[in-house]
Amino acid sequence: MDRPAPLPLVVLISGRGSNLQSLMDARARGELPVDIRAVISNRADAAGLERARAAGIETAVLTAEGHPSREAYDRDLMALVDRYQPGLVVLAGFMRILSPAFVAHYRGRLLNIHPALLPAFRGLHTHERALAAGVAEHGASVHFVTEELDGGPVIVQARVPVKPGDTPERLAARVLRQEHRIYPLAVRWFAEGRLRWEDGRVLLDGRPLSRPVDATEAA
Ligand code: GAR
Repeated sequence: MDRPAPLPLVVLISGRGSNLQSLMDARARGELPVDIRAVISNRADAAGLERARAAGIETAVLTAEGHPSREAYDRDLMALVDRYQPGLVVLAGFMRILSPAFVAHYRGRLLNIHPALLPAFRGLHTHERALAAGVAEHGASVHFVTEELDGGPVIVQARVPVKPGDTPERLAARVLRQEHRIYPLAVRWFAEGRLRWEDGRVLLDGRPLSRPVDATEAA
């Protein structure tokens, strides 16, 4: 039987692009049936742009400059993204708050990764805040994007222990390793048609998820 066509993807970044790299690597290993049509950054100096170029992927930069409002920027961003006709838009460290119109336009085909066990520690500086709160476990979450910041339904999470003497940097590195496992996993499920968000429910293999999939690595 013929394999289905790879899913067209657009990845939005703002910086380092290590999650983008994990997707490109999974793709190169033949583990991700996607066609990364473009990597778009809101910052011209994002290191992830170089990673994309090195992999032969088209890149584009759209800075906030010259846009009178968030809505105006997002309108231009939508027009740019839609040029590539993505079946899925992947936020990989894209550090902008999205307007309701943007989120509505890509509803059900917009994923984000967040460096915390959502709903805990939405927003910025998650590792510092996890340490300050004294939690025993921290981690990463992949979720569908809604209007609520870091608030959409969570698909998959991986937990890591918080260890004595952890600094935000050490904890961030431990979490990032898990990000690089679970983002390709969730994108793969979506690309294979196994993952959907329909009528307010996340469906995996046709069954509603009552809680996020726990992809924690065995210790
Ligand atoms: C990642 O840790 C990602 O989870 C986080 O930004 C980092 C981007 O790193 N995203 C957020 O905090 C979104 N709320 P990367 O550019 O190396 O992928």
